[in-house]
Amino acid sequence: MINVAVLGYGTVGSGVVEVIGKNKGEISKKAGEELNIKYILDLRDFPGDPYEDKVVHDVDIILNDPEVNIICETMGGIEPAYTFSKRALTSGKSVCTSNKELVANHGPELIRLAKENNCNYLFEASVGGGIPIIRPMNYSLTAEKIDAITGILNGTTNYILSKMAAEGADFKDVLKEAQEKGYAERNPEADVEGYDACRKIAILSSLMTGKNVRYEDIYTEGITKITATDFVYARAMGRSIKLLALSRENSGDFYAMVAPFMIPVSHPLYSVNDVFNAVFVHGNMLGDSMYYGRGAGKLPTASAVVSDVVDCARHAGKTIMCFWDTENVKLMDVAQVKH
Ligand code: HSE
Repeated sequence: MINVAVLGYGTVGSGVVEVIGKNKGEISKKAGEELNIKYILDLRDFPGDPYEDKVVHDVDIILNDPEVNIICETMGGIEPAYTFSKRALTSGKSVCTSNKELVANHGPELIRLAKENNCNYLFEASVGGGIPIIRPMNYSLTAEKIDAITGILNGTTNYILSKMAAEGADFKDVLKEAQEKGYAERNPEADVEGYDACRKIAILSSLMTGKNVRYEDIYTEGITKITATDFVYARAMGRSIKLLALSRENSGDFYAMVAPFMIPVSHPLYSVNDVFNAVFVHGNMLGDSMYYGRGAGKLPTASAVVSDVVDCARHAGKTIMCFWDTENVKLMDVAQVKH
């Protein structure tokens, strides 16, 4: 039996419990052993919840239990998630996370810690919600020299911009809807100012280069200044407005940015609407490939976390290689870049 603990019983954490509960047979078969939710860490109690008896308030109960093999960190934010993840990895427990902030800040260190302790730090859910994109970058495209990534990486802003384009809807009303649907960050500034997409493109860019792309170095502009009038002009030009996160490598020069772009009807990203995300990856052998799906929301994001749990179970005692070095990449100034 593989015992799993979930840290944080919020939107994604409760989704992890639901995914494992609903697909237990299927998942256990693929993991090679039965999966069991042994603990859920949260500050709150959940009277009447079917997993009420699994809830604990002290992380030491989890970290000191030798029967716990895998931890799902769905707390979000840096602390205490960072300390808990380090302690878990140091004691040989694999960690699967949806926490893009933590991955973007401390990814290489946590990956190294996992390697030193023969376990894994996996983060499929940190970019693109339920879309498989970390795994393609880390496994499937290893024969490629990747030189371009272009993505719609934030579900909330894509939801807002799609509604503004289709209905001329008001920014604030649509943001409220996105929050109610569980897409938005606790502080929605992270979505609408582009910070969330910035952290995600930093993660993808790091996997693209094998080095560390600091999110602080990425030029980032959000969607708060986009108005209904902008959409009138965009429509007149046969275009729509999308918040793009992109990174490019050209003969050793590298840049990354997040900003709203007008994109033409002919572009495949034009029809990526609602909460959907999409990532275009260009490799020098394969050419373009595109990854598309639900980029936010409880069950899609939880599904990605659980896919990492299955990977950890399949690789128990071994570390899956991940090329993400601590050396920082020097980015070009985007003002000098011709797009
Ligand atoms: N707030 C994020 C989004 C959630 O809207 O995409 C998924 O990372």
